[in-house]
Amino acid sequence: MLLELKNVTVPTFDREHIIVEDISFGVKEGSIHAIIGPNGSGKSSLAYAIMGLHTYQLSQGKIFFEGKNITELGVTERAQLGITLAWQEPARIDGLSVLKYLSLGMKDKANIKEQAIDALKTVNLDPEKYINRYIDESLSGGERKRIELAATIAMRPKLIILDEPDSGLDMIVIEDFLNIFNKIRKLKMTILLITHREDIGMVADYGTLLWQGKALITDEFAEVMLRFCAKAGLKEFCKRTLFQNEKTCFGEDYIDKIFEEERNS
Ligand SMILES: Nc1ncnc2c1ncn2[C@@H]1O[C@H](COP(=O)(O)OP(=O)(O)O)[C@@H](O)[C@H]1O
Ligand SMILES: [Mg+2]
Repeated sequence: MLLELKNVTVPTFDREHIIVEDISFGVKEGSIHAIIGPNGSGKSSLAYAIMGLHTYQLSQGKIFFEGKNITELGVTERAQLGITLAWQEPARIDGLSVLKYLSLGMKDKANIKEQAIDALKTVNLDPEKYINRYIDESLSGGERKRIELAATIAMRPKLIILDEPDSGLDMIVIEDFLNIFNKIRKLKMTILLITHREDIGMVADYGTLLWQGKALITDEFAEVMLRFCAKAGLKEFCKRTLFQNEKTCFGEDYIDKIFEEERNS
């Protein structure tokens, strides 16, 4: 396991409330692992706790990265070990050129331009068109989002935590995401994909279902999505996607059985 959470509980900063409780799961190296759950289920808080933000300290449990206990480490140390987080609400970084921006987090300061070109290609932006542009209002939300992701990739982390990568995108093409994720995977980076959208989660190999601050199941993603759909009452969607996808050929009987179990629970 690249990342492992053991009985992790994250309270609010004032410690008055618990946001997520007793979370345990592992993320396999080289995989795309989705954390799926509705708004407010605690996904972002868990992401911040994994990244080590001091306002999201664990009150219980441990986090391991490459087998090393990182529970007591801060953000900078975790980043140095190879963990990065792409924010749901990105900081504004207006005024820098794309090349400069991409270069900020590069570990290897040789061949900066080549690395920037590679990173832009990975997120399906034409390097010639973008590398000398400035990050300002002339870029669309989608372009900014891609540039941010390119900057994350340019840091060459081992684990990329993507918090709702589609948020703020007016037009999101699933095939495009799939294509980008597969390219990131080829670069031997592991992705922890946080989303409330079941369709985006479909690119994942494994998943964890977060529901009201609890991790209900960790399994192959299709299995996790089936539980998510059962909880959210998305039977039609479930049958349409989980039936057709050759990766996941659940029989109709099995889907009905899981929905039935959920009704009775
Ligand atoms: N810093 C905080 N202080 C108090 N409550 C918080 C804080 N951060 C998150 N919460 C609460 O924890 C719950 C989970 O939030 P969040 O992690 O953002 O969920 P998600 O990303 O799944 O939508 C929400 O009820 C939210 O209001
Ligand atoms: Mg969130």
